[in-house]
Amino acid sequence: MKNWIDIAALTDIPKRGGRVVKTSQGCVAIFRTHDDRVFAIDDACPHQKGSLSEGLVHGSAVTCPLHSWVVDLETGLAQGADQGGVTTYEISVEGGRIRLDASRLKSRSAA
Ligand code: FES
Repeated sequence: MKNWIDIAALTDIPKRGGRVVKTSQGCVAIFRTHDDRVFAIDDACPHQKGSLSEGLVHGSAVTCPLHSWVVDLETGLAQGADQGGVTTYEISVEGGRIRLDASRLKSRSAA
């Protein structure tokens, strides 16, 4: 069962930019692409936990600011020869508001 929480206005996040949302289960990075798609993933790079929300968005991927790993925003997986991934979260954008499905945050903490 989904647990939608309102987290921001779409205009709070610049195109090709990211923001971090703090939840009781950890930080989630929210990204807006050049064509107004919005993605949410854990804000901890699979390499050495760099803050992905501070990375560069290109297409539907983000480049980590620390050592330039590229993480796919749709799958959460590292690209190229790099291995690993982060949790992705479902997002809904309605009426200019971004909502995050927090149900995975809860199930993750219960695991
Ligand atoms: S911590 Fe992200 S590439 Fe190293």
